[in-house]
Amino acid sequence: MVLMRFAWLAGLIASAIAATPDEWRSQSIYFLLTDRFAHTDGSTSAECDSSMGRYCGGTWRGIINKLDYIQGMGFTAIWITPVTAQLTEVTPYGDPYHGYWQQDIYGLNSNYGTADDLKDLASALHKRGMYLMVDVVANHMGYDGSHNDINYSEFNPFNDKKYFHSYCKVDDYNNQGNVQNCWLGDNTVSLPDLKTERQDVQKMWQDWVGSLVSNYSMRHVQKDFWPEFNKAAGVYCVGEVSDGDAGYTCPYQKVLDGVLNYPVYFPLRRAFSSVKGNIKDLYNMINSVKSTCSDSTLLGTFVENHDNPRFASYTDDMALAKNAATFTIMADGIPIIYAGQEQHYKGGSDPNNREATWLSKYNTNSPLYKLIGKANAVRNQAIFASDRYTTYKNNPIYQDDSTLAMRKGYDGSQTVTVLSNLGSGGNSYSLSLPNTGYKAGTKLTEVITCSTVTVDKNGKVPVSMAGGEPRIFYPTSLIGTSLCSSIGNKPDDSIATGPNFS
Ligand SMILES: *[C@@H]1O[C@H](CO)[C@@H](O)[C@H](O)[C@H]1NC(C)=O
Ligand SMILES: *[C@@H]1O[C@H](CO)[C@@H](O)[C@H](O)[C@H]1NC(C)=O
Repeated sequence: MVLMRFAWLAGLIASAIAATPDEWRSQSIYFLLTDRFAHTDGSTSAECDSSMGRYCGGTWRGIINKLDYIQGMGFTAIWITPVTAQLTEVTPYGDPYHGYWQQDIYGLNSNYGTADDLKDLASALHKRGMYLMVDVVANHMGYDGSHNDINYSEFNPFNDKKYFHSYCKVDDYNNQGNVQNCWLGDNTVSLPDLKTERQDVQKMWQDWVGSLVSNYSMRHVQKDFWPEFNKAAGVYCVGEVSDGDAGYTCPYQKVLDGVLNYPVYFPLRRAFSSVKGNIKDLYNMINSVKSTCSDSTLLGTFVENHDNPRFASYTDDMALAKNAATFTIMADGIPIIYAGQEQHYKGGSDPNNREATWLSKYNTNSPLYKLIGKANAVRNQAIFASDRYTTYKNNPIYQDDSTLAMRKGYDGSQTVTVLSNLGSGGNSYSLSLPNTGYKAGTKLTEVITCSTVTVDKNGKVPVSMAGGEPRIFYPTSLIGTSLCSSIGNKPDDSIATGPNFS
């Protein structure tokens, strides 16, 4: 029942590519905090103590220079934190390194670089056929001080008190009016809440977003506000409704093209954050979101972001982290991986979960970097092979106390993903998986182990589970050459076919 935040993302499309919801379904997004991702010179030595809340020196040019690292994991889009000019004081809480304390939406945050740097980032991405998404905070400004001391003429263009709700504190998340009309923040850093229900405020945002999209998100905003904004942006929007209840979150899809899949986030995290996690809750929620939301395939699927403790802060176990990441990519919707997840970062609550990515030295051999790369590669291939892959609603076909299997896709070009929460110490066991939709005799490649199996005469897939690792199956004949290439060329399927269940 709790609406914690309501953010909004606009696709920043420099060369006026109007990305439709259909195009967005096929994306896989890497979300990063600009300040924490990369220094301009690519150096990895700068200290960054995230508990301090200070700028650590990441820039847009730094991102440009590390696009190989991001694309190497198979992502097709990046989502960056707000670009707008922020309050310039060092507050008792530190700097607005995260971009959520803006004052001038027509100015850029010079800590990240110049307008040319940002344009270059957009074009560098386009050259790679990738998209840039920008977090836009439409419901508040930021001010260093108490609500009594705010000098409204410092805001641009909202330079008058009339554009803001009068002060009251958001203190009752069960009360929609309180959440929509009151202020976040406190008397140390105020977050004056815009009257987004005012027509002039809406017009100011629309003008700005149009201008942003042609040159370059949101909280506690009335639902009425969204359709016009979405239209002005002319691009896909993902709202952020951090509510675990599908019945509350899903209706926002009527006004936004998609929302973040918080209903799945909670049971997903719980299912894999311990070897005792509840798989059945996750299985049930997949079905509940499918039946409640108008389109589960437009939701952003994630298990980490900058607002929640890192997955690895719940458990160190690498196998469990692999399963959570695999679900994120292979389930419905648009996968969103948060920078640092691929390096198994373990920061707890904000601000500790905002570690600098450079501290990992951009290790492309880390287990999760490789896992994410493989999962994205097979998803990208499945989307390439069938234009109906993304609209097929993820079908959980099997579940036991520690295993979840899901099918996504049609007509022999589907993926089948088998997840386990037994953890790295998990025993080896075998499944003979029904309801995958594959025809008897089909040769499948399991892309995590790069082994092949043959669908048995009853249409069941022999699955060998071990060490709590996930499994992703895809028809060998459709697999791209870069993924498990040596396997595709093998004359027989003698390797690792697993136990024979026929
Ligand atoms: C308020 O801000 C404006 C614009 O920066 C400035 O000109 C004015 O002096 C400020 N007023 C006070 C009372 O500080
Ligand atoms: C877009 O560029 C124009 C021309 O330089 C500028 O006036 C405008 O403020 C820019 N818009 C945004 C949102 O930065």
